[in-house]
Amino acid sequence: MGMTLRGRTALVTGASSGIGAATAAELAAAGCQVVLVGRDQRRLAQVTARTGGLALAAELTDASGLDRVVTAARRVDLLVHCAGIGWSGDLASMSAEQVEALTAVNLTAPVLLTSAVLPELRRRRGHVVFVSSIAAVGVRGEEVYAATKAGVRAFAESLRRLDGLGVTTVLPGAVRTPFFAGRRYDRRFPRVLAPEEVAAALVRGVQRGRAEVFVPGWLAVPARLQGALPGVFRALARRFG
Ligand SMILES: NC(=O)c1ccc[n+]([C@@H]2O[C@H](COP(=O)([O-])OP(=O)(O)OC[C@H]3O[C@@H](n4cnc5c(N)ncnc54)[C@H](OP(=O)(O)O)[C@@H]3O)[C@@H](O)[C@H]2O)c1
Repeated sequence: MGMTLRGRTALVTGASSGIGAATAAELAAAGCQVVLVGRDQRRLAQVTARTGGLALAAELTDASGLDRVVTAARRVDLLVHCAGIGWSGDLASMSAEQVEALTAVNLTAPVLLTSAVLPELRRRRGHVVFVSSIAAVGVRGEEVYAATKAGVRAFAESLRRLDGLGVTTVLPGAVRTPFFAGRRYDRRFPRVLAPEEVAAALVRGVQRGRAEVFVPGWLAVPARLQGALPGVFRALARRFG
């Protein structure tokens, strides 16, 4: 079920930076009224000055912050979950607090926010987008991050069984944003994308009612291979990733 965007209202989390900021701009250009959610008030104000729309500063992992976002999201046709944090390194050195922080932002917050506004969203025949990651197929050195991203992908797949709701999961490769800055990246493929490329693919995915959007598109091949031929996928993943 695709969605025509002109005249719609949208709420984007993670809109103060990176992919979320680019998505807010793309949605505004497509004719949406956008509510931009982030934590950093200064950056949020800068993005909102460019895109128009309403800024809502909120911490998604505390109850009062989430409550304010839920109140704003009750009135939207399109909900885009883009806020996220990463962690890479030796799993044994990851603290319980780091595991909890990753899970709280990447998985619990989108689950709680979606669940709270689901009746209204379905009544409006609305659409929800989850920005997952190609890491959802499993990544050495990013095990917990991968688990949170696989978690939202499975959550989205379950929501797809409901009537009256469009659901799109976006699975990007590496994207040049503050999230990615400072990381060692010595692969030639996938090439590092601009956040605007991901935002454009996300918005097209909503307009066309796509279930999953891989960016770049060829990343669908390893993801499909994992489902169809898991033994071959694991052998290739051990060799290349
Ligand atoms: N960059 C990549 O290579 C890549 C690849 C695949 C998937 N992704 C996914 O894409 C999404 C966006 O990432 P990005 O690359 O655009 O990163 P980014 O530029 O660092 O932006 C992250 C956004 O999430 C918000 N955020 C983080 N923690 C939050 C919290 N506790 N409460 C509210 N907002 C919070 C940040 O808000 P403030 O800055 O205002 O604190 C910021 O707006 C993430 O879900 C990430 O997992 C990224």
